[in-house]
Amino acid sequence: EKGGYEHFMMKEIYEQPKSIADCLRGRLDAKAGRLVLGGLRDYMNKFQNAERIIITACGTSWHAGLVAEYLFEEFARVPVEVEYASEFRYRNPVIGEKDFVIAISQSGETADTLAAIELAKSKGATIFGVCNVVGSSIPRATHAGCYTHAGPEIGVASTKAFTAQISILAMMALKLGYQRGTLTESKYIQLLYELEAIPGKVEQALKSNEAIKYIAEEYKDVRNALYLGRGYNFPVALEGALKLKEISYIHAEGYPAAEMKHGPIALIDEEMPVFFIATKDSSYEKVVSNIQEVKARKGKVIAVVTEGDTQVKAIADHVIEIPETHEAFAPLVAVVPLQLLSYHIAVMRGCNVDQPRNLAKSVTVE
Ligand code: F6R
Repeated sequence: EKGGYEHFMMKEIYEQPKSIADCLRGRLDAKAGRLVLGGLRDYMNKFQNAERIIITACGTSWHAGLVAEYLFEEFARVPVEVEYASEFRYRNPVIGEKDFVIAISQSGETADTLAAIELAKSKGATIFGVCNVVGSSIPRATHAGCYTHAGPEIGVASTKAFTAQISILAMMALKLGYQRGTLTESKYIQLLYELEAIPGKVEQALKSNEAIKYIAEEYKDVRNALYLGRGYNFPVALEGALKLKEISYIHAEGYPAAEMKHGPIALIDEEMPVFFIATKDSSYEKVVSNIQEVKARKGKVIAVVTEGDTQVKAIADHVIEIPETHEAFAPLVAVVPLQLLSYHIAVMRGCNVDQPRNLAKSVTVE
């Protein structure tokens, strides 16, 4: 059942080229210039005319929501808010008929997310679900939705569901941008091709597994870790930190790299590993400066970089290369080495990676 892998988590990490392709299949065809999201068909008007998009979710799904915020605002120029479902449901939010709410959930059973949906529905908003488990409670409570089709995710730490969620949200953002005219035809087509190429790039990224094991060996006994990224890679930093803490029980924090100087920089000393997502994108030079700031304080730097990188390589203690992508889709590839790293560290520490202590796969209580 684990397909020859020692743990479900590893199997699910390795399934990602296929699970992302499955998610895109039948929906995206770049050559034909086609992007069809069946679940959106009856609600395209509501989506297109929404004054605001509110994304609500918990945990890793909330991280996918943060990536989507950047995607929707960049490509479709619609204001987006991303809310923890547990906060949204209790804080008396301003919400109404012009809002389009996207609820993201792997299990489709998360109690807080379900309650947030019910609240938004009672205020007249349109609710769209992005779920993995077919027939679960959330898809039944929403007006419409898209399944991620990532297949069953058994490991408690979410991996392939996260990349499938982002894939759906990316398609939604492209569709919306095209329909609203904020994306030109040529840019739209170019982005369709970029997204279609992602499964192959994830496949490439998985080839760093042996090198990542080596890095895991070196850092498996640390007590703390910091994850930093900017732009589209900021949510990847949060997700990298969550993956490490939940399965290896190492304290880890994710931050936008520029926020480091407002506090976390005080933590940096020769014991502190700092994981940077430093791919070639519009904030690359700024991330390089952040890396220099860490090195100046003797921190250890492990960086996920774009193939062929030289600048970060020259200053980091370790680099992990991933293929070049459009920056908007970088999270789909950049998260993979961080998933692998957490996995190996947890296994080396003798942790139960598929069933970490105190955690449940679906959180059906608040
Ligand atoms: C992290 C993790 C949790 C879930 C969260 C939401 O690896 O698994 O943080 O992401 O409990 O669960 P779903 O997506 O099922 O609503």
